Amino acid sequence: MESSRQSKPIGVFDSGIGGLTVVRALTRHLPSENIVYFGDTARVPYGPKSPQVVREYAVEDTGFLMSHDVKMIVVACNTVSSVAMDLVMKKAGVPVAGVILPGARAAAAATKNRKVGVIGTVGTISSNAYPNAIRQLDPSIHVISQACPLFVPLAEEGWTDHAATALIAKEYLFPLKREKIDTLVLGCTHYPVLSEVISGVFDGKVTLIDSGESTAMEVARVLDEHDMRNSSRARPHVRFFVSDIPRKFTEVGERFLGRTLGRVRRAEGF
Ligand code: DGL
Repeated sequence: MESSRQSKPIGVFDSGIGGLTVVRALTRHLPSENIVYFGDTARVPYGPKSPQVVREYAVEDTGFLMSHDVKMIVVACNTVSSVAMDLVMKKAGVPVAGVILPGARAAAAATKNRKVGVIGTVGTISSNAYPNAIRQLDPSIHVISQACPLFVPLAEEGWTDHAATALIAKEYLFPLKREKIDTLVLGCTHYPVLSEVISGVFDGKVTLIDSGESTAMEVARVLDEHDMRNSSRARPHVRFFVSDIPRKFTEVGERFLGRTLGRVRRAEGF
């Protein structure tokens, strides 16, 4: 394969800022790859919206990334991955990876007592995408799901070490603790930021599955399958685009990405 295709960027999109946790995992596992990120900050959150609306947005987000000539697309948003993978694949015409299957595989591999918890937005939990994927891998696994919508604003506020967050986490996660899950899927881009407080509810005794981490490994597999790994020695770039003015994205983004973002541009056409 011609090297120009290999050096094309990977396109990553999310409803907003949360997908930076996936970019963080991607840059850790695939440090030579160029990345174009799109965060739909003008229309976030996707979590409470209907599947129909999320599907429409997903097609537009995919179109934006395709206009940047990406070699593959990563759907970082769990809500989109739950309800719109078919449309994204149709629109993209390049390989596509979502976060559900990699997260489900990691959870099925990790559980010992076959009791897995899944937390996510209302959209992700209502879709049953994670339980369906986990049960397809192993029908004997009991999956307990819980929507945790307040985690998104708490993560964005940076309330990672706050008594109010601990209280809300305890309330949300009580049904999963009662069922004695041994594995918990963080089925939302924002939740890895709160992993300490979430783990604390289970006294550190539950294996947390970060779908972003599992997805990065899946992306590596897809790139190898298509002989698309970037072998160029040029310094890789990560370009950020958002659909609203970039101010908040830049401020909060560092916490999600784990480093400074550099320039963030406003995407045209939104
Ligand atoms: N990115 C979304 C997800 O992973 C969370 C934020 C939102 O509701 O848009 O489901």
